[in-house]
Amino acid sequence: MNYTITVLGLGFVGMTTALTFAEKNHQVYGYDIDTRRMDLLRQGILPFSEPGLDQALTRHLGQKFNIVEDAESAVRSSDFVFLCVGTPAEGNGEADLSYIYDAVRMFSSVLHDGKHRVIVVKSTIPPSTTSERIIPYMEEIGLYPGDMFSVANNPEFLREGKCWEDAMNADRIVCGVADHIAETMLRSLYSSFNTPFFAVSLNTGEYIKYLSNTLLATMISYSNEMSKVAHVVGDIQVKEAFKILHLDRRWESGNMASYVYPGCGYGGYCLPKDTMAMYATGRLKGYEPKILREVIKVNDSMPQFMADRIMNIARPSDNLGILGLSFKPGSDDVRDSSSAKIIEILLKAGYTNLLAYDPIANDAFNEKYSFNDIKYCKDLSSIVEQSDILVLVTAWEEFKGIEDVYSGKPIIDCRYFL
Ligand SMILES: NC(=O)c1ccc[n+]([C@@H]2O[C@H](COP(=O)([O-])OP(=O)(O)OC[C@H]3O[C@@H](n4cnc5c(N)ncnc54)[C@H](O)[C@@H]3O)[C@@H](O)[C@H]2O)c1
Repeated sequence: MNYTITVLGLGFVGMTTALTFAEKNHQVYGYDIDTRRMDLLRQGILPFSEPGLDQALTRHLGQKFNIVEDAESAVRSSDFVFLCVGTPAEGNGEADLSYIYDAVRMFSSVLHDGKHRVIVVKSTIPPSTTSERIIPYMEEIGLYPGDMFSVANNPEFLREGKCWEDAMNADRIVCGVADHIAETMLRSLYSSFNTPFFAVSLNTGEYIKYLSNTLLATMISYSNEMSKVAHVVGDIQVKEAFKILHLDRRWESGNMASYVYPGCGYGGYCLPKDTMAMYATGRLKGYEPKILREVIKVNDSMPQFMADRIMNIARPSDNLGILGLSFKPGSDDVRDSSSAKIIEILLKAGYTNLLAYDPIANDAFNEKYSFNDIKYCKDLSSIVEQSDILVLVTAWEEFKGIEDVYSGKPIIDCRYFL
């Protein structure tokens, strides 16, 4: 069965959702409030780096995937509306739902026309949000799920840098549903993916996503805490110790071991805000998740810990070359990047001769953080030439073996990578 689908919010998740459905022959309309993003997409340009997704855009733009000016008319002809807007952290750590509410208001007038649609929240939202906040919000503005439409959630598990690969070969598809129509329609929509499909309660759908992200954050903070213990004990080969830990056969399958590894702390768009949101949700409901509290504390302490390591070796007058600016290798996403936090501490401490290089994220970093005192280098050899001390912050493959090629310069390896 081929469906018509509207995707609202065309970031990493929205573009991946839109293009995977287009790839499966559904008719997809995409809309974003960011007009610059829409202009780029209309020209076939993906506004961020994602291997595979760029080619999918070229394949489907103007055919199975169309960018629309008017979200309301797109929704009118659609069977499904996927909400893929941001859910950033509010000051108290809770998820900010305002983008979801704004998106719902954009098409609210259409839902009375007698056609049964499924409104699917793909954005990450804490458990109980669909049932206790989104549906009540809809009811407040006169939208009553039931005969008119269904509301479901469908968390996304993709990894940035591997969006296309992860979405086309997902491990599981999880849908939180409250009625049979939503379950049947979603099951049918996803039937061509050949992936295990789970229809669960609304709260369970949301919970599974946080189970995943908070466990990853916990493994990272655990590893970072252990690296701190190793540093105070002394004479511990941290990298070797973790590599030997991973030789235990129980870590063998998949890539999970990469999360049980120390570094500068988790960053990016998801783990920081999702861990905070789950902590805030537990507290709001009357239970303080103590492990998550400490996971967040350890993570928050990592930039200072790394900056202290750097300042123990470097003098403020040294030329410090920062290698890597994106939050992880393989991506040009600089949201919540460790490099930005470490650079901020170094600048405040009077280290003003900073150089920086990232294989793909120099421009995105400069645009987001606008640190005045950084000189961006166009390639690895130019940053190495101009630096007295190198600081590896993002573990790009390009930096592997740098200690052999550019021997003689002190390298502070914040990722235990070299
Ligand atoms: N990035 C990831 O790796 C990832 C993975 C899984 C889940 N998620 C979750 O998916 C959601 C989206 O994440 P993302 O990384 O794609 O975010 P993003 O910031 O890249 O994209 C969100 C887009 O929504 C647009 N938007 C905001 N309000 C809108 C509206 N009313 N109508 C239409 N567009 C609107 C924004 O302009 C932006 O382009 C978040 O809840 C996130 O937690 C992200």
